Amino acid sequence: MSTKSLILQILESKRNTYISGEELAQQLQISRSAIWKSMNELKKEGYQIISATNKGYCLSDKTDILSIEGMGLFLKNNDIGLIHIFKSVDSTNHIAKKMALEQAPHGTVILTEEQTAGRGRMGRSFYSPAGSGIYMSFILRPNLTNDNSVLITTAAAVAVARAIEQVTQIHAEIKWVNDIYINGKKVCGILTEALTDFESGNIESIILGIGINFNTAVSAFPKSVQNKVGSLFIEKPANITRNQVAAAVIHHVMTICKDLQNRPFIAEYKNRSIILGKEIEVIRGYTSETAVAIDITENGGLVIKKPNGFTETLNSAEISIRGNFLYEEKI
Ligand code: BTN
Repeated sequence: MSTKSLILQILESKRNTYISGEELAQQLQISRSAIWKSMNELKKEGYQIISATNKGYCLSDKTDILSIEGMGLFLKNNDIGLIHIFKSVDSTNHIAKKMALEQAPHGTVILTEEQTAGRGRMGRSFYSPAGSGIYMSFILRPNLTNDNSVLITTAAAVAVARAIEQVTQIHAEIKWVNDIYINGKKVCGILTEALTDFESGNIESIILGIGINFNTAVSAFPKSVQNKVGSLFIEKPANITRNQVAAAVIHHVMTICKDLQNRPFIAEYKNRSIILGKEIEVIRGYTSETAVAIDITENGGLVIKKPNGFTETLNSAEISIRGNFLYEEKI
């Protein structure tokens, strides 16, 4: 580990409190000038480090930069060697696919500060500005069968809702298939893609892409989505960082993927659903119909009841839904 990395680790673990140059020098067995040099490098990277005579150095709680050092503090039993962080990429799903083809192992995670071509479901784009969101993709190969690969999408929604709630204490809900909502606004989207072996037709790996609006200003989103989207926070809170949320997502996704087969998350998925029991609009291509969402199946399908009394189970692939929710009417 480099000196800069060791210093960052210490600063991240003592955010907003001072640590003297002398203490750092002793702890790391390095000279004061080596410390000074690393501090300057970190400042150049955007870290707000306050230095005060007789007190030392302090990482301001306004700093919110994704890093292995910042995330490592909150990771439980995860291999930080599998985490890759970029400043800017076109799409983390794209990078993950390339890495999966190069045999990157199960549990590899790609994060970035910004995506220049972030992708959403159904060919839509996902707005991914620098510094205010968490854009991440997992490479997953958990003994995949066709059955449990479908379940990853459902499980991931529960995992992300758990992570958000654990760190922020804000109740997170799920809109089928896998959008995360807070107070009636979409704060997170999930895009799951499969890499299939051309000859055998077997699924080789799943790319699970997650985009969370941490403190992206709603006014910064494209006009067309401004009345639907939200962020976890308006401003970065003093005591919560994107590293912390990202680490919690990694923990909950990797934990939930250990037992897809027994579907222990379906009940929680239903409890967090904002559409069950509600009237929804089901959109397929250019047609749409009204129905009531009545259940979620063991495979994550949505059971709807149509006005003629017939029921149908929808699978996620080709459908989008619009909810006629009270809070949407209030906008
Ligand atoms: C949706 O809401 O339609 C899904 C959005 C998924 C966005 C995430 S951000 C990280 C990953 N990389 C992408 O290009 N997309 C996913």
